[in-house]
Amino acid sequence: MLQTALTERFSLRAPIIGAPMAGVAGGDLAAAVSAGGGLGMIGVGSSTRAGSIRAEAAKARAAGRPFGIGLMAWALAERPDQFDAAVESGPVLVAVSFGAYQPWADRLRGTGIAAATQVGDVEEARIAADGGIDVVVARGSEAGGHGRDRVATLPLLQAVLDAVELPVVAAGGIATGRGLAAVLAAGAAGAWVGTALLASPEAGTSAAARARALAASETDTVCTTVFDVAQGIRWPAGFPGRALANEFWRRWSGRETDLAASPEAAAQLRSARASGDFDLAYVYAGQGVGLLRQVRSAATVVADMAAEAERHLRRWTAS
Ligand SMILES: Cc1cc2nc3c(=O)[nH]c(=O)nc-3n(C[C@H](O)[C@H](O)[C@H](O)COP(=O)(O)O)c2cc1C
Repeated sequence: MLQTALTERFSLRAPIIGAPMAGVAGGDLAAAVSAGGGLGMIGVGSSTRAGSIRAEAAKARAAGRPFGIGLMAWALAERPDQFDAAVESGPVLVAVSFGAYQPWADRLRGTGIAAATQVGDVEEARIAADGGIDVVVARGSEAGGHGRDRVATLPLLQAVLDAVELPVVAAGGIATGRGLAAVLAAGAAGAWVGTALLASPEAGTSAAARARALAASETDTVCTTVFDVAQGIRWPAGFPGRALANEFWRRWSGRETDLAASPEAAAQLRSARASGDFDLAYVYAGQGVGLLRQVRSAATVVADMAAEAERHLRRWTAS
């Protein structure tokens, strides 16, 4: 069994955290990841209601394994009730990423709940380590969903491991046992895995989105703000989202100012989302999407990834 600071702290059988993914990682996915031996997390979106956080957490709790919840710092400023609902739901880990997480990390201190945040460069990692964060997530630019588009996972991880004393978890592009073995060998306490879980039946991914993800290759993603601009979602500057390239992106990339002033485009995206037309609607996914080949339960993804990593790591220790 792979043992790290992460598995010890949270009593895990695999050093894998299921990334919080709003709209995709609810209580069912979190429970399945935790059942596979990892730490499942629930992703909370900017407009998620407190009642929905409690309901998803109840599903995760029912598995009888530890789980976590991921919040967006910029959204909490207007929705502090999300934080209260998360803390009251019994997670072992709360991640607050993308914006001013410090006040929330301060409130976690002394509760027994560990605090994590995703960082995109070394300076952000140092600030997190100085600010009472327990687990630093070094998130490279190849990762799916929102975050910094600055440094790729491997150079970021190496630099962050040198810069901070805390457990560091690697995120971005880790979708097989090879990737997990690589980051563990480098010194990470584990991997924070999102895209590799997109095709699992427990994820909130629709059948059509899952088919797109399974068909995509590693060159099919782009980092963009067009889907946020079209929906009027007020992400702060510096946090684009990595998604599958599609027709809507091709039409509007580079014309974001025009897009913001186009109610027609907003309506078109809304109706494409409702009908599941992914030529226009988005599928957030990282470059690891090219490694998704089949539908597997999240517990199997986690258990297979850990077993495969262990095999790869043993090759170098065998006498
Ligand atoms: C569909 C999707 C939704 C995401 N939503 C969130 C979110 O709500 N909160 C968050 O902190 N990160 C979110 N992320 C980013 C993940 O936490 C993580 O950084 C990323 O998935 C790791 O890289 P990978 O996708 O290559 O595994 C999301 C990622 C994806 C793919």
